[in-house]
Amino acid sequence: MVKAPVISFATSKGGSGKSTALIILASVFAHEGGKVAVIDTDPNETVWRWSQKPGRPDNISAYKTRNEDELLDAIDAARASGHQLILVDVEGRASALGNVAISAAMLTVIPVRPSEPDGVEASKTIKAIRAIERSTGLEKRYCIVINGLNGAIRTRTFYDVKATFEQANIPMAAHLVDREIYRRVLMEGGTIYDMADLTEKQLKTAHDEAYLFADNVAALVGLRPEDAGHATPEAEAAVKTAVNRAAAATKDQTQNEADSVAGEATRVVEGASLSGEAA
Ligand SMILES: Nc1ncnc2c1ncn2[C@@H]1O[C@H](COP(=O)(O)OP(=O)(O)OP(=O)(O)O)[C@@H](O)[C@H]1O
Ligand SMILES: [Mg+2]
Repeated sequence: MVKAPVISFATSKGGSGKSTALIILASVFAHEGGKVAVIDTDPNETVWRWSQKPGRPDNISAYKTRNEDELLDAIDAARASGHQLILVDVEGRASALGNVAISAAMLTVIPVRPSEPDGVEASKTIKAIRAIERSTGLEKRYCIVINGLNGAIRTRTFYDVKATFEQANIPMAAHLVDREIYRRVLMEGGTIYDMADLTEKQLKTAHDEAYLFADNVAALVGLRPEDAGHATPEAEAAVKTAVNRAAAATKDQTQNEADSVAGEATRVVEGASLSGEAA
């Protein structure tokens, strides 16, 4: 029996979109029929508060944990009760509990807003993950998600941040745009599939974006959103192919965008020296 993968959402930069990205991923998997556990380790309880609002689907269970033992117990309990995917939210600063969450996770998702300080903190988080890998001898995957983009407009800072991570060969999931629907889900509860009073186009665009993000992230733990409920012993063996698929998808996305802004994607963020740190 394959153990349900744990994905943590962590970066020492506050407000980068960890809780939002977690809720988006939980939304997609639950919508596809998967049984998902969300575990909030953040004293601010953003995800826990969201989970207590009306509209959380029955196949999303929520836990809040305040220390290492509670976190590891919650992961065991979530696995024992048949959850196929376990998502752990981490507070927006470096912490011992955050490191335990990263250690317990197969994959850490690192949201980055297109800004220099976000890039620097993401780079520190990657260093922390690598230190955990060295001390435990276990492979830890991680990926960046550039979050909070301004609609169709791609700023120079966006290309700079993206190029920096690409040059360091850091996997990137599909970007997330700044959308009212994501803000509202966090405030009002429920999932991205419950917001009926938006236009069909707004909903479809957000749902498509969320699915692509979830698909890219899931690939890194050997799952697809639509078979969240059917992890098999072969799933882990499929990880390598899936990682390549995600890398290729990111490359395509990059190519398209790079074509439209010829040359811009090569400049690195001034002063951040991310590629050096992450190399
Ligand atoms: N893609 C997005 N579209 C719209 N609003 C967003 C998006 N991402 C984040 N936000 C908003 O930005 C704020 C911070 O987001 P969120 O709480 O997810 O960040 P965080 O990294 O979890 O923060 P913290 O470090 O405090 O835990 C929230 O008000 C959230 O609604
Ligand atoms: Mg948060």
